[in-house]
Amino acid sequence: LGAGPLAGRRLLVTSGPTHEPIDPVRYIANRSSGAQGSALARALVALGAEVVFVTGPAEVPPPEGVELVKVQTAQQMLAAVEAALPVDAAIFAAAVADWRMASASDRKLKKSKDGLPVLEFAENPDILKQVSHMGKDRPALVVGFAAETDDVLENATAKRLRKGCDWIIANDVSPATGIMGGAENAVTLISEAGAESWPRMGKDAVAAMLAERIAAALGALQSQ
Ligand code: C5P
Repeated sequence: LGAGPLAGRRLLVTSGPTHEPIDPVRYIANRSSGAQGSALARALVALGAEVVFVTGPAEVPPPEGVELVKVQTAQQMLAAVEAALPVDAAIFAAAVADWRMASASDRKLKKSKDGLPVLEFAENPDILKQVSHMGKDRPALVVGFAAETDDVLENATAKRLRKGCDWIIANDVSPATGIMGGAENAVTLISEAGAESWPRMGKDAVAAMLAERIAAALGALQSQ
C-alpha cells in the first residue's frame, strides 16, 4: 500500500467534454480543455489515492498513475462511472453536453437545396445528479463543479441543492476572466457549511488544495 492521506482510498474523477455525434463527421460539445480535471486527478494520486479517471476527448494529456477510461458521449460516461463504483469520493469535473441528437445519422448529412437540416435533441443523463441520489452505492463525498458566467454564488448554491451533491466548486468562466482554457482558476467551495472563496491561483494549486480538503473530509467521515 502506498503512503499519503488517501492511501487505500478509491476515488473517481470525470473530466473533459463529451462529444455527441450529429453524424459520422460532426458533433456537439461543451468547451472544456480537461485541465482542471487532470490536475485534480494528479493531485489525488500524489496523496496516495487509487483514481479512476473517466475522460471525454480532452485537449490536455491524461494524468499518469490513474485507471484511465476514455469515452466520447455522456451515455458512455455514465456507464463508465457506474462501472467504477463503489468509490469513496467522486468528483465530477467533466463538462457534459446537456443534449445529444434524438437519433444521430449514420451517414454524413449533405447540403441540400431543399433547406437546412433540422436537428432534434434528446436530454442527456445528469451523471452528477444520478450518482448523488444513489442509495447504497452513493460515494461518501460527491463533488460537482459549477461553471457560471453570472450570479456565480447564487446559482452555484442552488445547484448544490438541485443536484444533491455535498460540495460544489464554483467558478466564474465569463470571458473577461480568461479562466476558460487558461492556467489559472478562482473558485468558491460551497458546502452545507457555507461558501468559501479561494484566491485566484494556478489550476495545479487549486487541485492540490481541493485534494487536501477531500482527504480531510474522508478522514473526518471515517472517524465519525
Ligand atoms: O448543470 P451543470 O452542467 O451546470 O452542472 C455541472 C456539474 O454537473 C458538473 O460537476 C458536471 O460534471 C456535472 N454534470 C454531469 N452530467 C451532466 C451535466 C453536468 O455530471 N449531464
